Amino acid sequence: MLSVMSFLLNQLNEKIMETTANKKITSEQAIALEDKYGAHNYHPLPVVLSKGEGVYVWDAEGKRYYDFLSAYSAVNQGHSHPKIVKALIDQASTLALTSRAFYNDVLGEYEKYVTEYFGFDKVLPMNSGAEAVETAIKLTRKYAYEKNGIAENEAKIIVCENNFHGRTTTIISFSNDPDARKNFGPYTPGFIKIPYNDIDALEQALSEENVAGFLVEPIQGEAGVYVPDEGYLEEAYELCKAAGVLFVADEVQTGIARTGQLLAVDHENVQPDILILGKAISGGVYPVSAVLANDHIMEVIKPGEHGSTFGGNPVAAKVAMAALEVIKDEKLADNAEKMGQLFRKEMNQLIEGTELINAVRGKGLLNAILINDTEESSTAWDICIKLRDNGLLAKPTHGNIIRFAPPLVITEEQLMDCVQIIRKTILEF
Ligand SMILES: Cc1ncc(COP(=O)(O)O)c(C=O)c1O
Repeated sequence: MLSVMSFLLNQLNEKIMETTANKKITSEQAIALEDKYGAHNYHPLPVVLSKGEGVYVWDAEGKRYYDFLSAYSAVNQGHSHPKIVKALIDQASTLALTSRAFYNDVLGEYEKYVTEYFGFDKVLPMNSGAEAVETAIKLTRKYAYEKNGIAENEAKIIVCENNFHGRTTTIISFSNDPDARKNFGPYTPGFIKIPYNDIDALEQALSEENVAGFLVEPIQGEAGVYVPDEGYLEEAYELCKAAGVLFVADEVQTGIARTGQLLAVDHENVQPDILILGKAISGGVYPVSAVLANDHIMEVIKPGEHGSTFGGNPVAAKVAMAALEVIKDEKLADNAEKMGQLFRKEMNQLIEGTELINAVRGKGLLNAILINDTEESSTAWDICIKLRDNGLLAKPTHGNIIRFAPPLVITEEQLMDCVQIIRKTILEF
């Protein structure tokens, strides 16, 4: 009787598997669906991913690739890290969302954990990177009015040319990317734009009236992985301190071990007044972002003045703690530093034998190669297509720059395999 039952159960299981398998759509179908039903606000590389694990992703037909974008550095801990996924599932099946209308029994524990982890008094939890940047802007302005004697509505924040801080209306107001701005005006006032990596320009801007803060990416990721000169961040921080202006670091992309230190500002021992985190604070399994600051700054925010329905929910809190634990337990900053050194060494060797690449630059595992062609050319895109064919996924940041940012769990053997793929692709191009 038992064996008949188990035979029938097996049959049923196989049927279910077959039906599920049959339901799987092809890459072509998935692209057609997105094209027809989705807004065309992205221009993805033609590859349809359906599974991820560690440094690998698989397409709908089962082909495996190395992921050299890591969801713009959100997947530092590797795809579907079991510890982070477990935290997500456990908490989601216990209590997922309460809003902040009530307390929940996880948020406080997370707030203690994350503030001690990064060395700040307080955290304000949000969801996306752009929201966290908006939060930092509001905090900077409010602090200026309530603690720094700047007259209401007069505060200015210094930002850098070619910045990328997200896509909200205020943030694009101080972008100089025409695609991000055109026909989205009128723009939010109150920002002074200076060249990146230019201390004199900063000094001059700081001498203007009513300056409340300096918002800066420690490395400009989206702009093409621009690494400022050594000492720039420290000097900028000292100048801000002397001027009584808040130093606001946007580490949404550079943070959480990506550049070979926990934070990119750690390379220069800078402790920002306001720290903005996103992306990999959740290991890429859930949108989590955070703004950290000390009491004298954070206390200007009172009930009702800022918030978000999902910000600080129990799932986000548990996921972020797990993601940050993985960074420490697996020493991912050290690995990023070591693998990054090796990667740039190998790329520099490759450059010697080809005219196609002008330079490699970066820190830790946030790197880019500069293609020897114009910004308007399709060469970088075409190389990315060939890299895809050869089993590695990367995308141009700007016309002629390709960013290489694999998950930080990559091993030396895997990295050397990737170097071989890049070498072969470039030399055959
Ligand atoms: C430095 C920086 N800030 C902010 C953002 C915006 O983050 P999100 O896309 O989660 O809104 C990004 C995204 O790439 C970023 O690189």
